[in-house]
Amino acid sequence: QTIYLKDYKPFGWIIDDVHLTFRLHPTATRVISRIRFRPDHDVHDRPFFLHGEDLKTISIRVDGHEPTIYEQSGGITVDVPDAPFNWEAEVEINPSANTALEGLYMSNGMYCTQCEAEGFRKITWYPDRPDVMAKFTVRIESDAEHTPVMLSNGNGLYYEQDSTKTPAPNVTIYQDPWPKPAYLFALVAGDLVAHEDSFTTVSGKEVHLAIWVRPGDEHKCAFGMEALKKSMKWDEDVYGREYDLDEFNIVAVDDFNMGAMENKGLNIFNSSCVLASPETSTDANFERIEAIIAHEYFHNWTGNRITCRDWFQLCLKEGLTVFRDQQFTDDMRSAPVARISNVLALRARQFPEDQGPLSHPVRPESFQEINNFYTATVYEKGSEVIGMLKTLVGDEAYAKALNLYFDRHDGDAATIEDWLKVFEDATGRDLSQFKRWYSQSGTPRVTVREEYAQDTLTLHISQRTAPTPGQETKEPQIIPIAVGLLNPNGDEVQETTVLELRDSEQSFSFPGHASRPVPSILRGFSAPVLLDQEIDADRRAFLLAHDTDPFNRWESGRMLARESLLSSVKEGSAPNAAYLDGLKLVLRDDTLDPAYRALMLGQPSQSELAGLLHDAGHVPAPEAIHAASEALRQAKADHLSDILPGLYADHQVEEPFSAEAGPAGQRALANAALDLLTRLDGGATAAMQYTRADNMTQQLAALGALLDADQGQEALTAFYDQWRDDRLVIDKWFSLQVLHAKPGDAADVARRLTNHMDFDWKNPNRFRALLGALQMHHAGFHHESGAAYELLADWLIRLDPVNPQTTARMSTAFQTWKRYDTKRQALIGAQLDRISKQPELSRDTTEMITRIRGV
Ligand code: ARG
Ligand code: ZN
Repeated sequence: QTIYLKDYKPFGWIIDDVHLTFRLHPTATRVISRIRFRPDHDVHDRPFFLHGEDLKTISIRVDGHEPTIYEQSGGITVDVPDAPFNWEAEVEINPSANTALEGLYMSNGMYCTQCEAEGFRKITWYPDRPDVMAKFTVRIESDAEHTPVMLSNGNGLYYEQDSTKTPAPNVTIYQDPWPKPAYLFALVAGDLVAHEDSFTTVSGKEVHLAIWVRPGDEHKCAFGMEALKKSMKWDEDVYGREYDLDEFNIVAVDDFNMGAMENKGLNIFNSSCVLASPETSTDANFERIEAIIAHEYFHNWTGNRITCRDWFQLCLKEGLTVFRDQQFTDDMRSAPVARISNVLALRARQFPEDQGPLSHPVRPESFQEINNFYTATVYEKGSEVIGMLKTLVGDEAYAKALNLYFDRHDGDAATIEDWLKVFEDATGRDLSQFKRWYSQSGTPRVTVREEYAQDTLTLHISQRTAPTPGQETKEPQIIPIAVGLLNPNGDEVQETTVLELRDSEQSFSFPGHASRPVPSILRGFSAPVLLDQEIDADRRAFLLAHDTDPFNRWESGRMLARESLLSSVKEGSAPNAAYLDGLKLVLRDDTLDPAYRALMLGQPSQSELAGLLHDAGHVPAPEAIHAASEALRQAKADHLSDILPGLYADHQVEEPFSAEAGPAGQRALANAALDLLTRLDGGATAAMQYTRADNMTQQLAALGALLDADQGQEALTAFYDQWRDDRLVIDKWFSLQVLHAKPGDAADVARRLTNHMDFDWKNPNRFRALLGALQMHHAGFHHESGAAYELLADWLIRLDPVNPQTTARMSTAFQTWKRYDTKRQALIGAQLDRISKQPELSRDTTEMITRIRGV
């Protein structure tokens, strides 16, 4: 069944208060709801439909009487008076049997919830839709032995424990003064310990902060707490947004489908996204944790105080909140490094989605299962769209529009139309063309041709977007293209200016240049597009040496690497000398941030190359791409052999560990150098680093390098023995072995690991650690034997009845299948058929497989 944006209808009833009582029990939890409903006279048609799934109804009363109930798919319609009434229901649910991890479930003996998007309907009968907002009071009853700590949204009002009895019953009451949709409801109960702190808001209100974890994880909370306090301060300073409750709780949960969830006042996190210590977490983990804590905290205003009218508007909160967390990271760390990392992620995850069978607009217009639309397009492209809007209107107008948005829509369930309207009202600009960024899917391709005559450089720019599923024709979009000009000496003669490309083809002139300037186009990656520019390697090398825009400087190196790799795949040519020479100059430049130089040492991934080859009309051969990538790495190692030992030695951090950007950047550069050095010394340096490492960044980089040099087996065993009791580290142990396997061995290595006693496949982190790594190993996943395709399909089939959401998400590994040769397409096609023929395949996976097959 497909749901359409155009079919939106308001609910018809208003809720004043919701009172919930939970009598917790692992297999038979009772949920009692008391809700006051009244008709919304603005809505003419007022059927009283409540969602509910897997609920055992004990009783339902309307004003004290048993009403007539009509069962429907996904819920019930109830005969109610056309006047205010009291709803009372008691249901029984089984949290232990809830392996889908939606609604109320158990993770390692602890009760927790995940209600976004549509999980609340598995807790009780309710209008489970984001436009129904209400104030919740929650009473939790349990026993103090198993669940000494019980939490819900809002402020804790009351706690009582009767110690005269065994087990000692305990009761807690939470009240949330802010109206919210049900998807923001949360409950946690278990044997938890807190890392506590406090934050005083700008208006002087003291907020009690706590990160709740299982005993034994207390030492992994300090970093997250600092990130939280920085986020709270930043949102006050930059957006003028203050926190609005007396307490803010974060809970770490081991079994979680996604990264984290912004439940009002009670954020629930996948433990991998909050727990951190130097010994167990890499610099990349620290950076991600800081960003996710910020993201969930920022949702308090962009998501919770202003929520979404319906799930089609998901990007209203997600695009904006990703944009805000990216701004935060820019301010906390290095903005150019953060921008490059974001673009790398966009190209790795969003571009393939937008250029394949799963392509959908930032604001989709239909879906079968909303969980399938928590995508890179909604999140990351959604954020890019906001970045473009800010570029087009300017920083001041952006701030003005955001203030208007918060003033006008606080307490609302809003839409993209509302969002754009505040920008129109704040700036007087017509944004109807801009709105196409929300409705048109696909990645626009921008082509630039240069002409120089009479001291004038003219850029002829055109745009075109290829058809995407359901959208045959595309209208031109407004594309902000940031451009600067350099003279032949490498000095900037035109600082960055933003061209607004509105038409299919447009020309922009830069007069007054006596010598032909070199343009630097799409600075800062000012729009999420594919850029086609006919320029030669010398010009790229010139920009790599001189561009004043750090993003484009990096991009020039990237393009050289890309072109070198593509021609070595296509023509078997040797690595490009201009690239290797240019790279050396940049790496030697000690004025450049080590983190930035580390990014310079990277090269396009094998799956990115496969996409580019496909795009250019070739059939990508994974083994040839793998060989070319390895050859380029070796060529870099050889060409840089005289500077690698120095780069490595000079960037060792002697001070005590800190996860700050500075030392992290030093480690990043040293470890990028180690990766290449290993190709020269057979793993000698890596072995030394492994022995000395006192933090996970150093230990893991050394272990990976040892595996590359075929020297890692002993270290791998030692690593396991050292970390066998730490789930998050053992996840890394699973991933690493697959990622560093030879292409022909990857499926076997993964298969062998599925038999390991620690392969707890019902835990989403563990499942992703192993099978996600297999799909990230391009040459291994696409090995001609088809063994990896089959292995993944086997496990998706096994996981689907247990956890549809994670299964559907992992099935995206097959989304690029049409790129490959007919033999591989047949192999993948057979697996897609096999999955789709499973009896009772979930709605989630059915929708994904159907879209991927494109039938
Ligand atoms: N709103 C959460 C976030 O972006 C994501 C939760 C998505 N959960 C889901 N089951 N689809 O932070
Ligand atoms: Zn979010």
